[in-house]
Amino acid sequence: MKVLESNLDKEYAGITGVPKFTQAAATLAYGQTSSALNEGRVAITQSISGTGALRIGGAFLERFYPSAKKIYIPTPSWANHNAVFKDSGLEVVKYRYYNKDTIGLDFDGMIADLKSAPEGSIFLLHACAHNPTGIDPTKTQWTQISDVMKEKKHYPFFDMAYQGFASGDIDKDAFPIRHFQSEGHQFCLAQSFAKNMGLYGERVGAFSICCDSADEKKRVDSQIKILVRPLYSNPPVHGARIAGEILNDPQLYSQWEKEVKGMADRIISMRAALKKNLEDLGSKHDWSHITNQIGMFAYTGLNSEQMTRLAEEFSVYATKDGRISVAGITSHNVTRLAECIFKVTG
Ligand SMILES: Cc1ncc(COP(=O)(O)O)c(C=O)c1O
Repeated sequence: MKVLESNLDKEYAGITGVPKFTQAAATLAYGQTSSALNEGRVAITQSISGTGALRIGGAFLERFYPSAKKIYIPTPSWANHNAVFKDSGLEVVKYRYYNKDTIGLDFDGMIADLKSAPEGSIFLLHACAHNPTGIDPTKTQWTQISDVMKEKKHYPFFDMAYQGFASGDIDKDAFPIRHFQSEGHQFCLAQSFAKNMGLYGERVGAFSICCDSADEKKRVDSQIKILVRPLYSNPPVHGARIAGEILNDPQLYSQWEKEVKGMADRIISMRAALKKNLEDLGSKHDWSHITNQIGMFAYTGLNSEQMTRLAEEFSVYATKDGRISVAGITSHNVTRLAECIFKVTG
């Protein structure tokens, strides 16, 4: 309403978008007390949501990253990462992330792959609510990941498409970004406001680079503009104005914070309900991964045959890799979902 009432025109934004939005997006990710922000070391541009941010990042690294033209992404990762980075001219390599035996994080495998990659490699890291597994490193594990990456001079590329959706707390979910920043890493970050503001179709996102100095930031800013101009000239304004309004108005911000928490809490309670229903049905399987995982998606551990049965016999549709959208579970359908999963898993 506030955006509509202000009766703004629809002139072009600048190449890097709506400053009121990008500045607030940076604060949201890096934190109020961020030294990088206070020292003017963060170059940021609005992007066509999270995908566009990743694409700008891919293009920037392809053009300027001094050594490897490779990017390491987790196994598995969001299905589009591979295509986005390939189309940016980078070679996509996988690192270990998911352990199918424990339905948890393959932390040792991940650390081993970080250690064995050539010095100065680029690693894509999901900041929170890893898609598709819903499995995130703990704070201690993030600290270790940061240490190894520093030792190996690797370059982190954070993808944060779900800030607030993992824990329900915007600040907690930004822990990896803020920790890496305080540890002196230089890195880049893709942010999406599709999920946490429900602005999917408005394509609201931001791409930023945490630079070494304010001087370097100026040069990066100018190169980002040179990259974006032939890609799409400038980003759409409406969604960025909505997000900018919410992030800059204390009242709207606190309402939004509560709504994000409400959403995350609902997801957490649906996970618990699904697990409990499966146990009440007498399932002998250990379903604790359902509640240990985090965010919109759950990796059930069901194989593709079981997922096919779910679809064909029970009209429950989800991806063949066993991933279900927890956001789609409600108090009305959780019992039926549990019964169907119970029937196909025995
Ligand atoms: C891990 C991850 N990164 C990025 C995105 C990009 O989303 P969007 O372009 O809609 O912001 C998604 C969307 O599902 C995602 O799961």
